Amino acid sequence: MEIFKSKSDLITFVDVLKSEERTLGFVPTMGALHEGHLSLLKEGLDENDVVVVSIFVNPTQFDNADDLSKYPRTLDVDLNLLSTIAKDRIIVFVPTVTDIYGEHVSATSFSYDGLEHEMEGRFRAGHFDGVGTIVKRLFEIIRPDSAYFGEKDFQQLMIVKKLVSKYDIPVKVVGCKIHRDSDGLAMSSRNARLKPKYREAAPFIYSTLKTAKEKFRTESAHAITEWVTKQFDAHDLLTLEYFIIADIETLKTVEIKSKQKLYRAFIAVYADDIRLIDNIALN
Ligand code: PAJ
Repeated sequence: MEIFKSKSDLITFVDVLKSEERTLGFVPTMGALHEGHLSLLKEGLDENDVVVVSIFVNPTQFDNADDLSKYPRTLDVDLNLLSTIAKDRIIVFVPTVTDIYGEHVSATSFSYDGLEHEMEGRFRAGHFDGVGTIVKRLFEIIRPDSAYFGEKDFQQLMIVKKLVSKYDIPVKVVGCKIHRDSDGLAMSSRNARLKPKYREAAPFIYSTLKTAKEKFRTESAHAITEWVTKQFDAHDLLTLEYFIIADIETLKTVEIKSKQKLYRAFIAVYADDIRLIDNIALN
């Protein structure tokens, strides 16, 4: 398995792959890899000759210094895990902050036609400027044919699609299903930081989403939102930051349901000081 720590070496390597007309998939990650990341990688390997996995904890997408410093970093374990999958077809890119940002670590400001003002954009200032900055730079370095993003971060997936269409970046963005633990908790690198009692409580997030989906057949979005808020008000360990039922195209909160539109419920919850997000398709 080739591991690149410098972007110039990777650029040269990709030049060779391109000259050989081999197809290139790309899975951007921040490391602390889990089965969710691996499901993206497997899809990439099915559809491409070679897949680049990047591992880079991107400082500009964190609105909270504490969250950035506590973000799990498990590079050796990650590399071991990747090497058990398809060594000869996986390239790992582990750049340094300076290699990506130079001396000035700052994000470019992006407009995503309003998608950035909803949910995560509202609660995490500047988050999607940081995501857009890193994803665009990585696309420019790696020049993949296809890039794989999880529906776990559905808003991010929509924003990356918007970025690609706005800047005419020649890459196919593929959305991949949410991978869950057997108790329903959506896999996340942050789960590793949950203390046992919070980890035990956390599947409540998905079970509430599933009930919300049931209710969506007969109840209004407003009534469901009130019901979810009550469930979390009564919960000892989990604190609701937001629950929103939104149109999947605009990500705007639904007022009146339309049969022609597709909706998802989105949720952000604090378990102790750890922020967990999840979402579910409703129709
Ligand atoms: P990270 O949180 O490491 O996630 C990397 C990719 O894995 C994202 O596309 C995310 O949606 C996907 N993913 C995470 N958990 C998943 C799950 N349980 N099921 C399916 N897919 C899952 O998202 C980021 O990193 C960063 O914002 C990044 C895109 C790398 C830019 O820095």
